[in-house]
Amino acid sequence: MSTPFIIDTDCGIDDAVAILMALLHPEVDVVGVSTLSGNVARDQVTQNVCELLASVGRGEIPVFAGATRPLLREPVSAKRIHGPTGLGLVELPATSKAAEDADAPTGIARMVREYPGATVVALGPLTNLALTLNLYPDVVSGIGSLVIMGGALGDGNVTRFAEFNFYADPEAVDVVFRSGVPCTIVPWDACRSVRLDREQLAAAVGNQTHRGELVQRLQEWVFRAMEERLGMPFAAMADPIAMAVAMEPRVIAAHHDGNLRMELGCTTMRGASVRWDGGGMDIVDAIDIAAFSSLLQKLFILPTA
Ligand code: RIB
Ligand code: CA
Repeated sequence: MSTPFIIDTDCGIDDAVAILMALLHPEVDVVGVSTLSGNVARDQVTQNVCELLASVGRGEIPVFAGATRPLLREPVSAKRIHGPTGLGLVELPATSKAAEDADAPTGIARMVREYPGATVVALGPLTNLALTLNLYPDVVSGIGSLVIMGGALGDGNVTRFAEFNFYADPEAVDVVFRSGVPCTIVPWDACRSVRLDREQLAAAVGNQTHRGELVQRLQEWVFRAMEERLGMPFAAMADPIAMAVAMEPRVIAAHHDGNLRMELGCTTMRGASVRWDGGGMDIVDAIDIAAFSSLLQKLFILPTA
């Protein structure tokens, strides 16, 4: 019995790896992908997703283009980490596959209604989800599980206080948090400790398959960026970790029931995740790195069931 997955993405390098993981998992049925600006601009993200799906023979999966910019803020990007196209050094084969006519909020609502109880995995800023929830409030009850990569309870990765996805569109995060949709938050704090170097990544995904070799080619830009910035090469695995949490929660080493509010100011605190009273959000605190690596091996190296 497979679970319908809807993936919302600002397809950069780690998004692409996460999408490949979902396509490979035998108990996951990717029923649609929506795109928005984040790591790179929306149209580039849409091209990345269409080319990625077509390159692995999954061109039938519908792609819905979404927000070109945050609800209120000026757009930001992460080209220094993901490269000018968002896929680092990788050039995927051109494809005739294009986005559907329907925009992302319409597409997400359509897929949730067609697949009630679906898992939604948010890998970029939450602009599309906020627009969807504001336009189609019935979606709140139709989503089975919303897994969000975003936020930082400790040090952020854009500012001292904020992680990229939440920093990019804090108002959208506020809309999603206040909607009451049940969500699992995979914050930067849980991801930053998973630092696979080239050898560890090669051991996890191998290069016996096209997809394993593609993951290593995708991550090479990040290895070089991290080596330049921090003096040590490691892969960007935030979105793959969030996807792993959505597919196999056994990779979670620690989590807690909590509640967060979003700092909306224009101060240095913009996009900070503020611990709040009450619960209702499943917040991941730590990842079992061995379980995560073994999931990658199961998906990329061992034959899928
Ligand atoms: O902070 C990490 C997140 O920002 C990831 O989703 C990465 O792809 C970027 O979008
Ligand atoms: Ca992302």
